[in-house]
Amino acid sequence: MRYFIGNWKMFGVPKSIKIIDKINFFVRRDKNRNKYRVIITPPLTLLGSFAKHCKGKAINIGAQNCFDKDLFSSNTGAVSPYMIKKSGSKFIIIGHSDNRLEGDNNLILKNKVKFALKNNLKVIFCIGENKKQKKNKKTFITLKQQLSKVLEKKFNKQNLIIAYEPIWSIGTGTIPSGEDLLNNTVFIKNTLKKIFNSKKTPPVLYGGSVGSDNIGKFSKIKIIDGFLIGGASKSSKKFIDIIKNYYR
Ligand code: PGA
Repeated sequence: MRYFIGNWKMFGVPKSIKIIDKINFFVRRDKNRNKYRVIITPPLTLLGSFAKHCKGKAINIGAQNCFDKDLFSSNTGAVSPYMIKKSGSKFIIIGHSDNRLEGDNNLILKNKVKFALKNNLKVIFCIGENKKQKKNKKTFITLKQQLSKVLEKKFNKQNLIIAYEPIWSIGTGTIPSGEDLLNNTVFIKNTLKKIFNSKKTPPVLYGGSVGSDNIGKFSKIKIIDGFLIGGASKSSKKFIDIIKNYYR
C-alpha cells in the first residue's frame, strides 16, 4: 500500500473543499486506486466539516498537529488528540520540522504520539536532518535519535507511519540524491525494526519538494512507501499528476 498525503499547512478556507472533491473524483476512477491511500490534512478550522464531507469518499482527513494532552485542559488555543478524533479525522501529523522549530522537543512529541495513538488516530510521525547535520555527516545519528527518543516498543505500530523529511528539502525544490534517499530509508527501517523488535516496520514515506516532475525518480525507490506533499497538495492538478506519474 502506498500513501499520498497532502499537508496543507496554513492554507485553506471552506470553499477549498473543491480541491478535495477534484482529487476524489480522480481517485474514484483511477485504475490504480486499490494500490494507494490519499490523506489530506487541512488546517484545524476545516477539520470537522471536511471530515464529514469526506465520509465514505476515497479521501481521508487528518490534522497537522495537536497539543500534548489527552482530553481537555485549560490551555488557551490548544486542541487535543481526543478533540481531533471527535472531529472525524483519522490521521494526524506529529513532529513536523515546522513544529520542532516552534519548540516541540522529544518529550513533548512522545506525549503527542502517545495520546494520539490512545485516541486511535493514525500518526504520521515526521523526522529529518537539517542542512548542517547533513553537511557534518550526522544524518544517521539524528534520525536514530528522533526515532528512538520518541517511539517505544509498546506503541501500536499498526497505527504509525514515518515520514522522512530532510529539512533542507522542504519547500526548497532541492531533493536528496537517489542513493542518499535509499540509504536513509533503509537506515530508518532498520532502526524501526530494532525499536519494535520486529521484521515488519511501519510504512516510511518521503517528504520534501515532491512534485509531478520529480516523482518519477522517487518511484524507482521501491522501499519508499509513499509521500508527504506540501506545496503541491494545494492544487488538485499537481496532486493528481503526482499520483498519475508515480504509476506511469
Ligand atoms: P513541500 O513540504 O512538499 O512543500 O516541500 C513538505 C512538508 O513540509 O511536509
